[in-house]
Amino acid sequence: MSASPTNVETLAIHGGTPVREKLLPYGRQSLDDEDIQAVVEVLKSDWLTTGPKIAEFEEQFAAWIGARHAVSFSSGTAALHGAAFAAGLGPGDEAITTPLTFCATANCILYQGATPVFADVSPDTLNLDPDEVSRNLSKRVKAIIAVDYAGHPAALDELGEMAKANAAVLIEDACHALGAEYRGKRVGGIADMTVFSFHPVKHLTTGEGGMVATNDARLAETLRRFRNHGISSEARQRQEAGQWFYEMVLLGFNYRLTDIACALGLSQLTKLGPNLARRREIAARYTAAFRSVAGLIRPSVRAEVNPAWHLYPIRLDLAKLTADRGQIFRALRAENIGVSVHYIPVHLHPYYRNQFGHKDGECPVAEAAYERLISLPMFHGMTDADVADVVGAVSKVVSHYAR
Ligand SMILES: Cc1ncc(COP(=O)(O)O)c(C=O)c1O
Repeated sequence: MSASPTNVETLAIHGGTPVREKLLPYGRQSLDDEDIQAVVEVLKSDWLTTGPKIAEFEEQFAAWIGARHAVSFSSGTAALHGAAFAAGLGPGDEAITTPLTFCATANCILYQGATPVFADVSPDTLNLDPDEVSRNLSKRVKAIIAVDYAGHPAALDELGEMAKANAAVLIEDACHALGAEYRGKRVGGIADMTVFSFHPVKHLTTGEGGMVATNDARLAETLRRFRNHGISSEARQRQEAGQWFYEMVLLGFNYRLTDIACALGLSQLTKLGPNLARRREIAARYTAAFRSVAGLIRPSVRAEVNPAWHLYPIRLDLAKLTADRGQIFRALRAENIGVSVHYIPVHLHPYYRNQFGHKDGECPVAEAAYERLISLPMFHGMTDADVADVVGAVSKVVSHYAR
């Protein structure tokens, strides 16, 4: 900590010394020499894309999460699009999803010409509330897309049963939740399809990248075709078989992940266990440190889960504070703590309001949470001193505004 004892309690936003000299981001990747070497080796090889690293990464990833199949994509968003396609979504269909997510979760429904229906979230986890999903079910609903917000698995059993009874598909957007456990099992082999992202702020990075995991061989085959223009075989299979012939059997895209990215993914996968453990350790420190900070509500964890902690979102108890979220956010930034907000509820983005007439008040729990949420820095490369700075700054700022 860099604050001098004389002005430690004066907020940086009021001219005091910031808790840190340099901004601590809310998330960032950790790459080591092994990761770099793995990429260099591929750059010197015959295959930059559609080569052997793809199947190797998919197989090892599937084994790690405990799913039968894993199909790589060029991003989490492309993977969501693949899942929406494989679920059979099309014009006239609806898919129920959560408003408290990154817009890509709902956009994938629109890519397929179907209609997103936003169901509100549970007040404790901020994940899709099964009762709200149930209220929105109809014959038009062909998919439920749940998000494991912040890395806390959604109510997968309840949602899975509802989807089955409605002849719909459960897609789990686990872009926050690689390594999270639900009822003792890692997410990836539970929902019909589970989607992951390998963006740099995630648990494992390939630069950009994504994956769909499934236990269903038919869905896996459709996903493989969809990410490769809808073509029935892949370039390497043809080269190995000495054949040129291929057919396009459905309208797909080029959503392939490169061998360069997969080599990085394979190397990162070897560190996933310790990185996940570090995130859990950081979350435990925050949770212990904030027990007695009035005006701050810590994320809740249900008994049946072990979260993966992509984010550590605190909520402000505004009735106990003299400042709103915006003021507290700015005060934390002035202390050089790189806080963020996840998320503006999707239905309130201008595009969704203008195209579909969505309005404030449709999802009151998510909307009230949005006004109160602040994501604290959370990434596995944080040092103990970084964690102490966040704890110090949050305690300093929130206590300053306590009633
Ligand atoms: C919940 C959620 N879904 C989907 C995505 C999209 O993933 P990508 O950035 O890999 O396209 C993100 C990305 O942050 C996300 O947080």
